[in-house]
Amino acid sequence: MSGIIAPSVLSADFGNLQRDCEMINRSEAGWFHIDIMDGVFVPNISFGFPVMSVLKKHAQKTLDVHLMIVDPDRYIQRFAESGAEVLTVHYEACTHLHRTLGEIRKQGMRAGVALNPHTPVHLLNDIAADCDLVLIMSVNPGFGGQKFIENTYRKVSEAKELLLKHNSKALIEVDGGVALNNTAKLVAAGADVLVAGNTVFASANPEATITELNKLASV
Ligand code: DX5
Ligand code: ZN
Repeated sequence: MSGIIAPSVLSADFGNLQRDCEMINRSEAGWFHIDIMDGVFVPNISFGFPVMSVLKKHAQKTLDVHLMIVDPDRYIQRFAESGAEVLTVHYEACTHLHRTLGEIRKQGMRAGVALNPHTPVHLLNDIAADCDLVLIMSVNPGFGGQKFIENTYRKVSEAKELLLKHNSKALIEVDGGVALNNTAKLVAAGADVLVAGNTVFASANPEATITELNKLASV
């Protein structure tokens, strides 16, 4: 089994966004991970539709959009139009999660649910059949470059078990603090997609680091 590496654009150089997109295109990464933060759900503001349109223009791989915003229903259609192929909302931000996921699918995207570090996996029991991806946050959302929370391995295994029980083919994505020293262990626990921001972009050779992560994710 082999994990998909999804470099997080949040850690890219926004003065050279086209260059960084082209690096990801050339690399062994599978997806682009795109973090949208509203300054309300999380204590940080990232970027919005003007940057999405640059990514749509230059990125040649799956656009995996992670919404860290309140009331995401308002923007589902705009993200579909912006080229999002996977759209993930936070469990903690959705009052009517079933409806939200249905709407995302109706707009032709894969629907993801993200869980904060404190949110238990078993809460997915009644929604597992309705999502295409489960994103396990391995840091508190809002910033790149934070320390990986060790409890994540257990949550990934638990999510894997829960999805199997429901006969779901949903992918498990891990986001935050993914590095060379935890990638193989996360894939072994059941992770399918590994987001990496700081590990890729703070390295001397981001493209080579993606190759290394990809190798570690292939078991
Ligand atoms: C955090 C974001 C992450 C972030 C990961 O809120 O959801 O996607 O970019 O960055 P690293 O890999 O640096 O922890
Ligand atoms: Zn993210």
